[in-house]
Amino acid sequence: MHSTTIHQTYHDRRQIPYLVRDARVEDAPELINLLNRVGQEEIYIADEKAQIPVEQEAAIIRHRNPEVQLILVAEQEGAIAGSLEMVRGVLKKNAHTAIFGMALHPEFRGRGIGRGLLGSAEQWARGVGVQKVSLAVFASNHAAIRLYAGLGYEEEGRRYRQYRILGEWVDEIWMARWL
Ligand SMILES: CC(C)(COP(=O)(O)OP(=O)(O)OC[C@H]1O[C@@H](n2cnc3c(N)ncnc32)[C@H](O)[C@@H]1OP(=O)(O)O)[C@@H](O)C(=O)NCCC(=O)NCCS
Repeated sequence: MHSTTIHQTYHDRRQIPYLVRDARVEDAPELINLLNRVGQEEIYIADEKAQIPVEQEAAIIRHRNPEVQLILVAEQEGAIAGSLEMVRGVLKKNAHTAIFGMALHPEFRGRGIGRGLLGSAEQWARGVGVQKVSLAVFASNHAAIRLYAGLGYEEEGRRYRQYRILGEWVDEIWMARWL
């Protein structure tokens, strides 16, 4: 029987440890704050703010089916540095696939934490039998695209001018990696 639990310590570029673990119910307020914070920046993720209240996030964490849904946080020096959510296809037809989204708090970017979060998520995905992992990213988000491309994700498709961000048209790129 595989384990779906994630609890892994990594070291960032400065050799400071950070922990990647499953989100707990009490993380819900911090997770919503993080989404609001990154959403306000407008240029990185589609949501302009969290789409659900804290109570709903807490309920999602509490009732999560660990074979289907993963909610990870990265924690460094007692603070939530970032999060990643991955969902596996719920149909027989697409149970071999998963999609994810991730976001780091601005203060914690560029330290190597995103790489650890995604590494742990891929480990979970393999464990539950996922073979193909996909994500959508703004064509203008060069840091994210470099992270994904460096891990073997390739462009599969593009929705042209899918977004208009701060007055500019932006394509949405779909990327995928076979595990
Ligand atoms: C994109 C994001 C998840 C990357 O996480 P991160 O912890 O900052 O990235 P890491 O430090 O782990 O770096 C991993 C790789 O990403 C790329 N990368 C990270 N920051 C970068 C930057 N500012 N410019 C270019 N490439 C960058 C590099 O390829 C890097 O590998 P390298 O260090 O070997 O060159 C994070 O910056 C973030 O949350 N950004 C805002 C929200 C967002 O864009 N979410 C993704 C939406 S699809």
